[in-house]
Amino acid sequence: MNMKSEKTQSLNKKTSALCAFVFEDSKELLGIPKLPAKLDAAVKQSIKETQGKFESFSIIHTHQLIAAEKIVIAGLGKKQKTTTDSIRMVAGKIAQKVRELKLADFTIIVPDLQFNINQTVSAIVEGAEMSMYSFDKYKKEKKEGKAPDLILVTSHKVDDVILKAKKIAEAVNYTRDIANLPPNECSPAQLAGFAKSLASKNNLKCTILSKSELKQKGLGGISAVGQGSKNEPKLIILEYRRGKKQDKPVVIVGKAVTFDTGGISIKPSEKMDEMKFDKCGGCTVLGIMKAASDLKLPVNLVGIIPSVENMPGGESYRPGDVVRLFGGKTAEILNTDAEGRVILADALAYGVKLYQPSEIMDFATLTGACIVALGANIAGLISNNKRITEKLKNASARTSEQIWHLPIDDDFMEMIKSDVADIKNIGVGRAAGTITAAAFLASAVGNTPWAHFDIAGTAWIQTGTKPKSYNPKGATGFGVRLILDYLSN
Ligand code: BES
Ligand code: MN
Ligand code: ZN
Repeated sequence: MNMKSEKTQSLNKKTSALCAFVFEDSKELLGIPKLPAKLDAAVKQSIKETQGKFESFSIIHTHQLIAAEKIVIAGLGKKQKTTTDSIRMVAGKIAQKVRELKLADFTIIVPDLQFNINQTVSAIVEGAEMSMYSFDKYKKEKKEGKAPDLILVTSHKVDDVILKAKKIAEAVNYTRDIANLPPNECSPAQLAGFAKSLASKNNLKCTILSKSELKQKGLGGISAVGQGSKNEPKLIILEYRRGKKQDKPVVIVGKAVTFDTGGISIKPSEKMDEMKFDKCGGCTVLGIMKAASDLKLPVNLVGIIPSVENMPGGESYRPGDVVRLFGGKTAEILNTDAEGRVILADALAYGVKLYQPSEIMDFATLTGACIVALGANIAGLISNNKRITEKLKNASARTSEQIWHLPIDDDFMEMIKSDVADIKNIGVGRAAGTITAAAFLASAVGNTPWAHFDIAGTAWIQTGTKPKSYNPKGATGFGVRLILDYLSN
């Protein structure tokens, strides 16, 4: 979407739709210049009808009384309850309406609200760009037309803010594009191909470990989970260095199971198709690497993506198998459907050993238990570090990518002790399923500051997802905005 800013909105300026916000129980459009009497009356009448309720809309034809073709009135709801996320949602709604009407452009008057102008501008830009997303790669008839051009009116200097928010939103859409791919078009090798093309466009270092290299280097977890599929496992590594030379990198790891059947411990068939989204963690890592490099952030960042297809078959790993993880710990496999922790433990230990990071984070659609505990709108956060936890909570509040901090301690480590190996890949019954999964990961990172995001509920639109204009059907790209905020602050 093309975007630019202008200092003032003169009523002589041509635009297809002049858009302004209104609070509930207020009679005034925020920031709009004085209108000719006839139009002013029509606007007042509309506001009376919609009462500025959240996501209410009215469109008024101006009949050439001003240069704008239409005036769009967008309700924000109660002033006290307005957040940057409500702005993001309403801005997304406006963009979708404008596209539906096949208008070439629209102008949004940026309101002066209780938050900093940069936050308001970012929310509008993100809402507009992300709401224009649709996954129509496999449709002959593209339902949605071209995204309209956006002009933001504000007296503040916001060009850099617009550019930054736009690049982040584009990285979210890029994440969605890969995450939404069907499993027959996104094997581990194909995912590695997408990483390679991102690397060559954005000047990143890219390393791909093949099946035989994984075995030879001792990544026994990824090798075991990947052995049941003719689509061979890969470990994808992307490196971006623009921080101080001596600074240790931040390492981000993402689970990319391109399809999770459950393996020999096979899943029931209902909704099994949704397990194409089991690669979302890895896609989030790709999106973060893209945004960080597009924005030339002054950080050292390494992305690691263990990718496998979890299939049943004559070659598959089995319940009862003992596998040797990278670093030497042994793991007893008691359920082949608990595969995410097995590949992540390898990738985390490998990241710690090779890059000695200042901190390591991982994103994974790891447990159904996380959806049971937190629903489909909040990701689970588990960490061994208070400082990172606090920083992430602040980033979450700013971006409205919701997270909830869950505990972990030695009692949970006890729950994954195995009778025959060092650890086992399931806990005790159904108890604390999200935390016992994280405990398996904790055993791989040692003392390195670590944060784990269980994005099983938030990675795609599913039963129980709260509808938001800027999250169209399919993958959401959860985590990209959150971590970009974290890395920028
Ligand atoms: N990818 C799934 C988790 C999942 C399930 C995410 C449904 C989103 C929606 C993961 O690999 C898995 O199967 N986990 C098991 C673990 C269990 C066997 C201990 C689960 O959650 O049932
Ligand atoms: Mn599974
Ligand atoms: Zn899985």
